[in-house]
Amino acid sequence: MTAASRPAARARRAAARARLLAPLVLAAVAAGCGGTQSTLDPKGRPAAEIATLWWWMLVIACVVFAGAVGLIGLAWVRRRREGLPVVKDSGRRNLGLVVLFGIAIPITVNIGLFVIANFVVIKQTEAPAAATTPLTIEVIGRQWFWEVRYPGTGAVTANEIHIPARTRVNVVTSTSDVIHSFWVPQLNRKIDMIPGRRNRVLLVSDKPGRYRGQCAEFCGLEHARMAMYVYVQKPADFQRWLRAEAAPARAPSSAAARAGRDAFFANQCASCHTIRGTPARGVVGPDLTHVGSRSSIAALTLPNTRAALTDWLRDPQHAKPGNRMPDLDLSRAELRSLVAYLEGLR
Ligand code: CUA
Repeated sequence: MTAASRPAARARRAAARARLLAPLVLAAVAAGCGGTQSTLDPKGRPAAEIATLWWWMLVIACVVFAGAVGLIGLAWVRRRREGLPVVKDSGRRNLGLVVLFGIAIPITVNIGLFVIANFVVIKQTEAPAAATTPLTIEVIGRQWFWEVRYPGTGAVTANEIHIPARTRVNVVTSTSDVIHSFWVPQLNRKIDMIPGRRNRVLLVSDKPGRYRGQCAEFCGLEHARMAMYVYVQKPADFQRWLRAEAAPARAPSSAAARAGRDAFFANQCASCHTIRGTPARGVVGPDLTHVGSRSSIAALTLPNTRAALTDWLRDPQHAKPGNRMPDLDLSRAELRSLVAYLEGLR
């Protein structure tokens, strides 16, 4: 390579690197937006109010930023034109500008946003008076899953909350251990679950669908794997689901499932789990009465498939280390039959 071609080659390499890096940087920036848990993709009136406030705050922040940078630029250009050093005090003062841009405008903008956030948005997002909603659900935070109760019906489930569309649902939250935070970004704001308190949050959506939620307060080792789904269903579908969920467990219908039920009681599973309609009354882990009808296990850590369920039962500490499910050292035959039993609990 000649001496002259070396800088050209270097420039080409730099350009190639830039072409490679630009999309990566863009992808990294864009990865923070959207997705299944985005407050900017609201699916209900409360979440829409929050998203609108956020966009207003972004626009105002951009205007303020552009204004500040513009004024600095203007000052720089003028000083250069007058032959003055850019950062040295010229002795001139412009108190009016300081009062306008440093005090009057920031105070007005902040008070405006405060009023909108605290008098307009809060009205739409706050929990309704308990007696005014057609449906109340209790959600209890536990290390590390969500217990979900439908008072007055006997229905208890875990990690997958069903609600009817176009219905204001009062979610009463509490915790059985540490502080958790209940958050379904596409439906409403978050609410902390604090020991000894019952905090409430409104869930409402016009759009049937499945919305992901996540614990939003660090609560120990598996905080990141404490997620949930909210299923918004047409009211008739929801009523059907609720009736099925309130019913006791089905009796096992195959020989394998019957063997699984025997293995369930022989291995002390019942001391931690409840299966309504059987002597299993444990309250440490999730209610399993209709576990076969859920789409996930371990608070959305794994899909509810035969393979994942088998792996989970074989080594519960592998996928979610630190959870309270012990390794029961089950035989292959016990694993197979237990999975058959749990799958049948629909
Ligand atoms: Cu529960 Cu973080």
